[in-house]
Amino acid sequence: MRPAFLSFLASTFGSCAWAVGVTGAAEGFAKGVTGGGSATPVYPTTNAELVSYLGDSSPRVIILTKTFDFRGTEGTTTGTGCAPWGTASGCQTAIDQNSWCTNYQPDAPKVSVSYDNAGTLGITVKSNKSLVGQGSSGVIIGKGLRIVSGASNIIIQNIMITNLNPQYVWGGDAITLDNTDLVWIDHVTTSLIGRQHIVLGNDASNRVTISNNFIDGRTSWSATCDGYHYWNLYFTGSNDLVTFKGNYILHTSGRAPKVGGNTLLHAVNNYWYQSSGHEFEVDSGAKILVEGSVFQNAGQMVETSSVSGQIFTSPDSTTNQACSTYLGRACQLNAYGTTTSYKGTDQGFFQYFSGKNIASASAASAAQSSVPNSAGYGKI
Ligand SMILES: *[C@@H]1O[C@H](CO)[C@@H](O)[C@H](O)[C@H]1NC(C)=O
Repeated sequence: MRPAFLSFLASTFGSCAWAVGVTGAAEGFAKGVTGGGSATPVYPTTNAELVSYLGDSSPRVIILTKTFDFRGTEGTTTGTGCAPWGTASGCQTAIDQNSWCTNYQPDAPKVSVSYDNAGTLGITVKSNKSLVGQGSSGVIIGKGLRIVSGASNIIIQNIMITNLNPQYVWGGDAITLDNTDLVWIDHVTTSLIGRQHIVLGNDASNRVTISNNFIDGRTSWSATCDGYHYWNLYFTGSNDLVTFKGNYILHTSGRAPKVGGNTLLHAVNNYWYQSSGHEFEVDSGAKILVEGSVFQNAGQMVETSSVSGQIFTSPDSTTNQACSTYLGRACQLNAYGTTTSYKGTDQGFFQYFSGKNIASASAASAAQSSVPNSAGYGKI
């Protein structure tokens, strides 16, 4: 609760009375990211202004104070897609993007699809930008964000991205990184996404911190046909350092995350709640350390049928002492409730933490009480 006195000041002097912009600083691998730095804040009022500010070559602090709805702005496409999981209501169907249906789902029934074009490709975000929502007013509907082609030093904080053709696989990704460096995604809520909530593509995304986000997997169209979103977090870059801390991952059925390429993932103090499938896919090249996190009613912690990378799940306090050499402290135990845990003891990748900025870790019990209340937009 804000005292009435402060509310009076805020309403009297508006945003000028307060420091406007990014709150706090990135912890972990993207520590030091500054985004638009001390650039004079800009307040886009139209979709075109938002796109222009994000895509120009000036350092910018871009403050969102309203909803930007991109649905319908680029037309719709109607065509033939496929139904790999059947045509029952509740099942996602797929757009035939890059002949995906033809190449990968040749036996799936063909179905008609009609989707909003704006959702399928995100807004380009160039280097040296901070994109920050004010209170809980910063919402982008129908289009994601795309950080690619060498863009670096970017902060995305306190916004919601929602409604990217959620009924269709390939309907759109909320936040895409591919060939980037120093990106911080913080206090962002993503919901009703067709494809991935956050995707780090096959090129190097380098130093990334993903913190305090709310990955909301509740949906009426699921690849597992059960109301739980399957495509959530996809980390397969060729040289990626990902700090994943304080995130709330709700109601998913798979790929939360899928990790491969050459990715060092430090997953710390996250809260996974309600999964009908698995959390981690540990593909070749994955180097995953999970600690201080909570898995509650979360299905399988690891998809055990396909573990081909490296994972350390901080299994017991004696084994967790091994973290001291490269993290400077013992690792924190995870906590499990009605979840199939996984004992990963691989320490062969700990050396890659050497010399890096490493996020601190609290006990899982602290994450359990704080993360559901603090993750997502509108909480800072
Ligand atoms: C971003 O800011 C840094 C530091 O001021 C500068 O060196 C760099 O050229 C900027 N990048 C772009 C693409 O403007």
